[in-house]
Amino acid sequence: MTLTIGPHALAGRALLAPMAGVTDPPFRALCSRFGAALACAEMLSADQSLWHTPKSRRRMAMNGSGQITLAVQLAGSDPAQLAEAARRQAGDGAEIIDLNLGCPAKKVCERLCGSALLGDEDLVARIFAALVRAVNVPVTVKIRTGPDPTRRNATRIAVLAERAGLAAIAVHGRTRAERFQGSAEYDSIRAVKAAVRIPVIANGDIATPEQARAVLEHTGADAVMIGRAALGSPWIFRDVNAFLDSAEFPPPLLRASQTAIILQHLESLYAFYGEYTGVRMARKHLARYCERQPETQAARTELLAAENSASQFALAGRVFGVWAAAADCAEPADESNRRQGSPVAQPHRARAQ
Ligand SMILES: Cc1cc2nc3c(=O)[nH]c(=O)nc-3n(C[C@H](O)[C@H](O)[C@H](O)COP(=O)(O)O)c2cc1C
Repeated sequence: MTLTIGPHALAGRALLAPMAGVTDPPFRALCSRFGAALACAEMLSADQSLWHTPKSRRRMAMNGSGQITLAVQLAGSDPAQLAEAARRQAGDGAEIIDLNLGCPAKKVCERLCGSALLGDEDLVARIFAALVRAVNVPVTVKIRTGPDPTRRNATRIAVLAERAGLAAIAVHGRTRAERFQGSAEYDSIRAVKAAVRIPVIANGDIATPEQARAVLEHTGADAVMIGRAALGSPWIFRDVNAFLDSAEFPPPLLRASQTAIILQHLESLYAFYGEYTGVRMARKHLARYCERQPETQAARTELLAAENSASQFALAGRVFGVWAAAADCAEPADESNRRQGSPVAQPHRARAQ
């Protein structure tokens, strides 16, 4: 069944979760290439006095990933301010405006926002109404299941969202008080799905294709949203989509292909952020790629210490190239290999911004 958000029919039921500091345009483009049907940008404060900073600018609609439907996420608590921010972002090309009611931080930029607002349902309803009035593009919301385990009000928030005209709701199966502790629970998401007709997206601790299917079956949700499991593994969407469609796994992605993808990821980070920040962002991702491949751990410290893009890129090519070459059996070329060309490190074309 196709998931539709407003006029946007999404090509799949696995979405990338917004993650501040991670889901920048290069990572969103990468995940969408592997089948993430939607990849929302990192949260952007609705306070426009902060929009001049490079960090904010990178999160705006004008910096879309260029791949799939462009969703910009806003965080704030003042309905008028959020509405104005939404208007600006939609004017700059955002195709979906997502409201962040899921971030566990009590305050972002000195203002209540994110899941701290879940306890104030009147305010949430006013924010929903202001956003829907402000823009012609679909408005969605990402929530937690409530402020704390004694106040799981996700269902009431979902009903408010539907009444206000929001186009979809994503639910992380933890309360705000739980932050990232314990396990996500999916009964609350099932209750949300039973209470509304707008699409419901289930989120929290989904790390494998089997879990994705189990969560969809348990909750009846229309799609899953995957966050941390995509770190160091952006190709997870390919496996999840295939498994959801056919209950079968696609042939494993070859190590040589993964190496080529990692190197392309580095190049896109250098191009997007420029030399200094690009190298630092790349370290974050390289750490995750190494974590997923224990055989690369020995070289991790050296890899993460590289000071410039040329040495970082060359070292990454060597470390992951050796890892790929050590594959047990000769791996036949697969589709992604053909698309991406040789996995061997090529001189990169880092560009300063
Ligand atoms: C590093 C990090 C940054 C995050 N930033 C955001 C954000 O900007 N907006 C948001 O709605 N959720 C944010 N989240 C929450 C995720 O979108 C997601 O709800 C959460 O990680 C649970 O999903 P998972 O178990 O698949 O990771 C962030 C999570 C992490 C780990």
